Amino acid sequence: MNSVFETALIGKHVVIIGGSSGMGKATAKLAVALGAKVTIASRSLAKLEAAAADIGGGVQIAPVDTTNETGMKSWASGLEKVDHLVISASSAARGAFAELPTTDLRAMFEAKFIGPYVAAREVLPVLTEGGSITFFSGVLSRRPSAGATGLGAVNAAVEALSKGLALELSGRARVNCISPGMVATEAYAAMSNEAREAMFAQVGNSLPVRRIGEAEDIAQAVIMAMTNGYLTGAVLDVDGGHLVRG
Ligand SMILES: NC(=O)c1ccc[n+]([C@@H]2O[C@H](COP(=O)([O-])OP(=O)(O)OC[C@H]3O[C@@H](n4cnc5c(N)ncnc54)[C@H](OP(=O)(O)O)[C@@H]3O)[C@@H](O)[C@H]2O)c1
Repeated sequence: MNSVFETALIGKHVVIIGGSSGMGKATAKLAVALGAKVTIASRSLAKLEAAAADIGGGVQIAPVDTTNETGMKSWASGLEKVDHLVISASSAARGAFAELPTTDLRAMFEAKFIGPYVAAREVLPVLTEGGSITFFSGVLSRRPSAGATGLGAVNAAVEALSKGLALELSGRARVNCISPGMVATEAYAAMSNEAREAMFAQVGNSLPVRRIGEAEDIAQAVIMAMTNGYLTGAVLDVDGGHLVRG
């Protein structure tokens, strides 16, 4: 990493909603290593405590649920100042168009779009001038997959939110969106080991980089989105070439 990466986060307060797992946790680790003061937030206190022990560096924890608007308001109003907000919290619902229950579709939009929208809105009053917000979408917004149409749509909504907010916050804060391809995280923990490894191998072999992503691949991009003062309104495709694969 160059010197900008090495110094830009020293003493900065980085809040990562979704930081107890996967790419959020990897981002927390990297931010701590770069000298930031990091707060990780998610619903499960047990997951937060385990993640904090793993990350080290005095990381703070905050049990919050982005889908609980009252809880989000109360938590955010107690924050003193935030330099960089990252929102990787989400849950995904998959299913064929005609079969995905509407309740599952609504729950996914609550967790992946409305929750992050509310979280960003409530943290905004304490976001420092020149700070940043980083949202997460996913490759399915522009590379659809049968059985994941709803997930593609919610990803597209998050990308539109990021771009619109970048404009609304011009001169005040930068807003970007990370669009990961397939990344080996706890998000796939419900699958059997065999099915998961087979899927990872099959997708990895189809990509120009010949592997699926690691959470650390994405963490590097999040740090770049936080620290590059010329980057706003961008969707960063950190996907191993998924969008251009044959
Ligand atoms: N992994 C992939 O292959 C992939 C591909 C494309 C896009 N993405 C996107 O990338 C982002 C990060 O994915 P990941 O794989 O790193 O996820 P992950 O490992 O499943 O972690 C999700 C995190 O969000 C928290 N969370 C979930 N719902 C929440 C809520 N309502 N309020 C607060 N926290 C909540 C979880 O902790 P608690 O359970 O404690 O709440 C956890 O810390 C997500 O937006 C995902 O959709 C992932």
